[in-house]
Amino acid sequence: MEHRIEVGILGGTGMVGQHFVKFLQGHSWFDLKWLGASDRSAGKKYRNAMKWHLGGETPESVADIVVEDCKPGNAPRLLFSAMDASVATEIERAFAQAGHVVVSNSKNHRMERDVPLLVPEINPDHLKLVPGQQRARGWKGQIVTNPNCSTVVLTMGLGPLKPFGITKVIATTLQAISGAGYPGVPSMDINANVIPFIGGEEEKMQQETQKILGEFRGDHVEPLAARVSAHCNRVPVVDGHTVTISVELSSKPSLADLRHAFDSFTSVPQARNLPSAPARPVQYMEQQDRPQPRKDAERDRGMAAFVGRLRECPVLDWKFVALGHNTVRGAAGAAVLNAELMYTEGMLD
Ligand SMILES: NC(=O)c1ccc[n+]([C@@H]2O[C@H](COP(=O)([O-])OP(=O)(O)OC[C@H]3O[C@@H](n4cnc5c(N)ncnc54)[C@H](OP(=O)(O)O)[C@@H]3O)[C@@H](O)[C@H]2O)c1
Repeated sequence: MEHRIEVGILGGTGMVGQHFVKFLQGHSWFDLKWLGASDRSAGKKYRNAMKWHLGGETPESVADIVVEDCKPGNAPRLLFSAMDASVATEIERAFAQAGHVVVSNSKNHRMERDVPLLVPEINPDHLKLVPGQQRARGWKGQIVTNPNCSTVVLTMGLGPLKPFGITKVIATTLQAISGAGYPGVPSMDINANVIPFIGGEEEKMQQETQKILGEFRGDHVEPLAARVSAHCNRVPVVDGHTVTISVELSSKPSLADLRHAFDSFTSVPQARNLPSAPARPVQYMEQQDRPQPRKDAERDRGMAAFVGRLRECPVLDWKFVALGHNTVRGAAGAAVLNAELMYTEGMLD
């Protein structure tokens, strides 16, 4: 590309904000120049405004940036959002109203009728919601979102199977503790234990999956008519959400059909060679005990989904396991890939 693009982060001091900072280091298109947070942090150098929770030191290229209030003013046009959900609704809207492109990881706007909930390999055409959003809201900016960290794993696992007609899904998660942010789940609760409840997560997985796998219909997305049931569990794993999936498919494909669908799956980000796109977005692992979070979540920079153990299900038709990196493909990396796709669609001009 001819000109690099300056970007900022709303909520740059938080846990997801730090993942954005890390993921954007050395990015071939985007230069991180601006960081916004609450008035507790505004006015301080980034290195003094937060405690760095990730490996290594705070990257030098951002350590001396002075954190600003999350108010429209001198921020770059393209902003990634890792805002606290209690304030994201109004703050993201204010920036879109002021003409910013807000690529958000927060849950607040995901299910709004005119807001794309994007997985670039699965539903890139849902970006066509944006012109209607701009007309309806009377703003020149835009809000585009990425899904919840477990939904992205489920939808990448199901995406290659969509042509077979998905009618029922039962998905059970084994979710890493990093998905709960910092300080997250108390160690006395999670060590050597399983917590069979994550507030709001099952509803999010069910609704978001239907929207992502739904069809763009001019001014809205018609949700996939499949019944989706999610069971969400927190387990003592650091990074990587595992999802075991049973699925009913209307066209009754064979095992070979399904394997071919997984093995041949590729999409727009790969065709356009986007900087953060994994070469193979969904990778089938042959070993009967894979994928595993500790061994596989970090592969391909954490941007691919890994599937395995495809076999017949005596209740629905087929069952298999999927794994993805929750803070990369489920958060920062997802939003950055969204922005890369938007650039190639001319939406950042
Ligand atoms: N943790 C995860 O793995 C994960 C995964 C997927 C999605 N998410 C979503 O991502 C978002 C961020 O999560 P997180 O775990 O990074 O939260 P977090 O660590 O609590 O960070 C929240 C960020 O929001 C800022 N903030 C809070 N109140 C504000 C205000 N009134 N005005 C401006 N900025 C304000 C904080 O700034 P200060 O530092 O100044 O307080 C901080 O930068 C949430 O919506 C969450 O649901 C999280």
